[in-house]
Amino acid sequence: MFLPQEFISKKRDNQPLSTEDIQSFVDGIKNGSVAESQIAAFGMAVYFNGLSMEENVTLTLAMRDSGRRMRWDDLDLPGPVVDKHSTGGVGDVVSLMLGPMVAACGGFVPMISGRGLGHTGGTLDKLSAIPGYNPFPAPDEFRRLVKEIGVSIIGQTDDLAPADRRFYATRDITATVESIPLITASILSKKLAAGLDSLVMDVKTGTGAFMPTLEKSIALARRIVEVGNGAGVATSALVTDMNQPLATTAGNSIETLEAVRYLRGDYRAPRLHEITLALCAEMLLAGGLAQNEAEARAKLQAGLDSGRAAELFGRMVAEMGGPADFMDAPERHLEAAPVIRPVYADRAGFVTEMDTRGLGMAVCALGGGRRQSADVLDYRVGLSGFVELGQSLTAESPLCVVHAASEDAWQEAARRVRASISLGDSAPAVDPLVYRTIRREDI
Ligand code: URA
Repeated sequence: MFLPQEFISKKRDNQPLSTEDIQSFVDGIKNGSVAESQIAAFGMAVYFNGLSMEENVTLTLAMRDSGRRMRWDDLDLPGPVVDKHSTGGVGDVVSLMLGPMVAACGGFVPMISGRGLGHTGGTLDKLSAIPGYNPFPAPDEFRRLVKEIGVSIIGQTDDLAPADRRFYATRDITATVESIPLITASILSKKLAAGLDSLVMDVKTGTGAFMPTLEKSIALARRIVEVGNGAGVATSALVTDMNQPLATTAGNSIETLEAVRYLRGDYRAPRLHEITLALCAEMLLAGGLAQNEAEARAKLQAGLDSGRAAELFGRMVAEMGGPADFMDAPERHLEAAPVIRPVYADRAGFVTEMDTRGLGMAVCALGGGRRQSADVLDYRVGLSGFVELGQSLTAESPLCVVHAASEDAWQEAARRVRASISLGDSAPAVDPLVYRTIRREDI
């Protein structure tokens, strides 16, 4: 008989775990026969002693199989089923453009997105800012949308990797979130349950990322690539910069508006554009939709220039319950905040450092993110028009524009913004946008 305490003591003492025991433990997480204290003790043992690659693959597959697994092979789709997942950042609105851009190039993107976590924004929250948008269609409707449009972005349902849901909730309150093998199993179990042919991971690094150092971000990216491929899904990863917000906006409605403007070609912020193209190109390469990076970028640009990517996004929004004229008149549907005013630098100088996490927390404090899981978001609020690292400012230059629900909230956010952006007398070295690309052959 499987005894959870024996299983935990093996990991505590650095003994190998068998496939059967890992499977029994995950079954126990799912059916409740393993107690929360035992999940917590196992999580802490893994935090200190890690998992071998084999154990990590087994744990990932067991968590994937704890719930429903999606299938696409019976639909005879004329292209690969591909997705991207980001470890989370501030102003990371990439998914909203990437899904339709890859669909415009022949990929099929069944994207299961999450809510904002901590200081980071969530794709699900951004799309929920669109009136009428239903991120929880029935499974057959989701399949129809992916088949007919090429992209559908939905929220995670309870039947997808339920063992991860319970494991993650315990880790969250027992200081074991920051374990590379556990993060890997958690993210991949959900992504693999979506039945993908290939996955591209965007592992963020910098002041707004969950991983504290570049070294740890690279270690996480390598582990995800190795476990993902070990679990049978072609997986690659880009380690990308989060030392400043990625888009020019952070906040649900204003980021969604930025995505529409990007797709329509009104304005494409250069850093956001470059990261979006790099991730999309990697997806086209992984899915066999392009032979090389140059071809991939040319196809993606053609999909933007022809208006096809914008059209697919508009179709997705309309078919998922949103307004039919969303792409033509997004401002009509995305409510603006009542107090919108710039916050100014109080000295001249170069922008030397941005505490991106602090900026994300400013958005949370405005009501754009959650303090508790049951919090209702104010989609109208956020920050826009950020200065960039290295930019030269006068004392009258705006650091960004605060969109607030009230004057008090504006003051509090302005204080947080000033505390998060440092000015100095010389420009800092420029951070790369993509620090590393890690593919199966690099492992
Ligand atoms: N996101 C997840 O889904 N799981 C983790 O463990 C960390 C971040």
